Amino acid sequence: MVIKEIILKNYRNYESAEIAPCAEVTVFTGGNAQGKTNILEAVYLCCTGRSHRTSHDRELIKTGEDIAYVKLTVLRRDGEHEVEIALSGAGKRIIKINGSRAARSGELLGHVTGVLFAPEDLRMVKDGPALRRRFMDMELSQLRPSYYYALQRYNRALKQRGALLRQIAAGAQTADTLDMWDEELIQSGSEIMHIRAEFVKKLAERASVIHSGISGEKERLDVTYEPDTEIRQSAADTACALGEALLACRANDIKRLVTSAGPHRDDIGVFVNGMDARAFGSQGQVRTCALSLKLSEIELMREETGEAPVLMLDDVMSELDPERRRLLIDRLTGVQTLVTCTDKNDLAGANAGLMISVKNAVLTQEERL
Ligand SMILES: Nc1ncnc2c1ncn2[C@@H]1O[C@H](COP(=O)(O)OP(=O)(O)OP(=O)(O)O)[C@@H](O)[C@H]1O
Ligand SMILES: [Mg+2]
Repeated sequence: MVIKEIILKNYRNYESAEIAPCAEVTVFTGGNAQGKTNILEAVYLCCTGRSHRTSHDRELIKTGEDIAYVKLTVLRRDGEHEVEIALSGAGKRIIKINGSRAARSGELLGHVTGVLFAPEDLRMVKDGPALRRRFMDMELSQLRPSYYYALQRYNRALKQRGALLRQIAAGAQTADTLDMWDEELIQSGSEIMHIRAEFVKKLAERASVIHSGISGEKERLDVTYEPDTEIRQSAADTACALGEALLACRANDIKRLVTSAGPHRDDIGVFVNGMDARAFGSQGQVRTCALSLKLSEIELMREETGEAPVLMLDDVMSELDPERRRLLIDRLTGVQTLVTCTDKNDLAGANAGLMISVKNAVLTQEERL
């Protein structure tokens, strides 16, 4: 898949920008706070329907403006796809796919597929489970619309259940009113768990091969799905287990005002030579693990969709040592890549096809040396 054109209007600090990335590596360089990440964020928004930095559309709209607009034109094997998103401060979005207005937000997914690699991803193994869940969610939403919708239903039910817990604690509702939301959590939650289990299994196979290559066969990487509640053979049985868990924690949940069981507490286990890298991994080890996970994400997406996703590297080159940088660069062939960096020296060996300098939201194509 190749992005032919990116158009931004009143997006973040951009009044207007048109970018035609090349099919290989396009580099955005410039000082801090000039608008490099904003470009990747807009592309990521078209891939996942979400910004990786905020859940408030208002922040994406240029200060003082009412509407932000992003348009991406991509070429896939089956032809050209156009994705347009208009964001308004009130949170209302208008999404158009190939010129027609989408009835549901999920219709956005699958047209532009992408993998974003940002400095926080390098901390994915050491930081809390939230980053690891986001990793699953963002990848799976792009690959499986049913996952995206299940997650949407789950999160909505979780929020409603939270509100109800507060009302029950205040005596304004009875505990049995939780049944309705529990049922929704059970249905969507068990669906989420089974899709995650299948995904992590496939990811683990690829990550282990990649990791062993990166570590010169010295390290064995095992990645496992760690669901918060028991996963059973069939989705129906998993739903039963989740239902039992929710019921078991109900009294406590009313006291603590949180839902303490379910896939919003899932994790991914990362083990190097049998040792839990989340707790005991050295800084170098956890970075290599993150790199292996990200590279397998690209691989998996390529296999599932039949073509490579666009890869966005936000400032990660500077965070990697020369050896890991080279391993990453070696894998970029055949993958359209958008890179941001402040120091061009970090790109040594990346062979940029197009270099764009970003200064206060003004883009200038740099002359090739
Ligand atoms: N809604 C908005 N309206 C106007 N400007 C905004 C808005 N949101 C962010 N900005 C501006 O965008 C700039 C940050 O852009 P971005 O995050 O892309 O920087 P960057 O070039 O990636 O910098 P760094 O190298 O530090 O990562 C800041 O100057 C910020 O003030
Ligand atoms: Mg940035």
